[in-house]
Amino acid sequence: MDKEEFKKYGYEFIDWIADYFENVKNYPVKSPVSPGGIKSKLPDFPPDQSESVSDIWNDFRDIILPGITHWQHPGWFAYFPANNSPASVLGELLTAGIGAQCMSWETSPAATELEEVVMNWLRNMLGLPENFSGVIQDTASTATLCALLTARESKTKYSSNAKGFYEKLRVYASSEVHSSIEKGVKIAGYGRENLQYITTDENYAMLPGELEKAIKSDVQAGYKPACVIATIGTTSSMAVDPVAEIGEICKKYGVWLHVDAAMAGTAAILEEMKYLVRGLEFADSFVFNPHKWLMTNFDCSAYFVKEPEHLIRTLAINPEYLKTAKDAQVNNYRDWGIQLGRRFKALKLWFVIRQYGVDGLKAIIRKHIDMAAQFAKWVEASEEFELVAPANLSLVCFRWNDGNTSEDKLNDINKKLLEKINESGKVYLTHTVLSGKYTIRMSVGQRTTEKEDVERAWEVIRDCVGEFINK
Ligand SMILES: Cc1ncc(COP(=O)(O)O)c(C=O)c1O
Repeated sequence: MDKEEFKKYGYEFIDWIADYFENVKNYPVKSPVSPGGIKSKLPDFPPDQSESVSDIWNDFRDIILPGITHWQHPGWFAYFPANNSPASVLGELLTAGIGAQCMSWETSPAATELEEVVMNWLRNMLGLPENFSGVIQDTASTATLCALLTARESKTKYSSNAKGFYEKLRVYASSEVHSSIEKGVKIAGYGRENLQYITTDENYAMLPGELEKAIKSDVQAGYKPACVIATIGTTSSMAVDPVAEIGEICKKYGVWLHVDAAMAGTAAILEEMKYLVRGLEFADSFVFNPHKWLMTNFDCSAYFVKEPEHLIRTLAINPEYLKTAKDAQVNNYRDWGIQLGRRFKALKLWFVIRQYGVDGLKAIIRKHIDMAAQFAKWVEASEEFELVAPANLSLVCFRWNDGNTSEDKLNDINKKLLEKINESGKVYLTHTVLSGKYTIRMSVGQRTTEKEDVERAWEVIRDCVGEFINK
């Protein structure tokens, strides 16, 4: 591809993306294709000869696009948001254009130093403790794995990397914790059976008293409590564990405290939500995802640690071919994570924070929270629906319930109701199960979602009840 062709398609793609931002609302939110539907249209073998960009571009629109579920659709109320934004796409474009591999300071000093700066900005925006240092990871799953590995190393006096470990280490998290914690526990070698799930209260937040009981009984039985994972904003219902109380217990028993705020952490940029970060002075590590709610396209996960030397001691590998003369003076972020190669992810975050300004970001988050609160009020006022958990931040957990139907039937009806809602193509919501109840989750966090989109969702939901249940 020569320069002129690159420019021609580059401009065309930007035009297309700009139009997509505007037109995405016209696509069905959830891709309607069946399994294998896309693959069947693609050749089994790659082309031997060069194909024109024009042909590839046409196939993108004709074959690939119908298989896209549109996370940037204003009717996106499923799972959690994965927002991009014009600023973040432009930053990402430059990252791809520069193509730098930012494993060490020397392989692109600006990447390392910009990462230090934007992570400090984020720390201040959220009101995290001043002694936290940050690094960008790909996902919260990876950040949590780093925390589990660091906890394992520090609990075994830094011998397990060298010798393996034979001690009976234990990890604790609430029964509502995200599945990435179990995955991390398996990968880090603790063994799934050493993950102790702690009971929650009626609002699905961890009971600190139960945590302390579990730790005490493990100590008596000869186990070594290594790590507690507290969640700020659980995936199912956005419950917030009492981090300060949990932190006191971790301090008392010398246990690593990792805090997973993957989704909800962004809300702490708001003055009125600072309670979310209360108690973080007890935490050894903390993660939240700008790639969820902070307008920064996937992937970009912000991981903070109180004492980086533990993380570095756990993960650093320094073969001759990576050594540089500046190593003693700089951060080499390859030693702060699992992978060696690193993309320049700080760039898009820098673009986002500067282009929106902190006030602009706050306005969007505040709007989402207000819209979710409004939706919760409609649910509460309705005779046919009920909240299944307290509505918190951007999430409303609800179900249809006429008050005359058995629990088994309610589960079945709500499952079918959700299928019907999503078939509309206008909105996309997903589910969870809370205390055995099939629960529909309304997650209001897409960048372009406005009041009328939330109103439309409520209308679609009620229409589906009319068509499907009350018929
Ligand atoms: C509380 C919580 N933790 C962790 C994750 C995993 O995030 P990631 O995809 O960045 O690994 C999620 C994603 O939904 C989450 O809600």
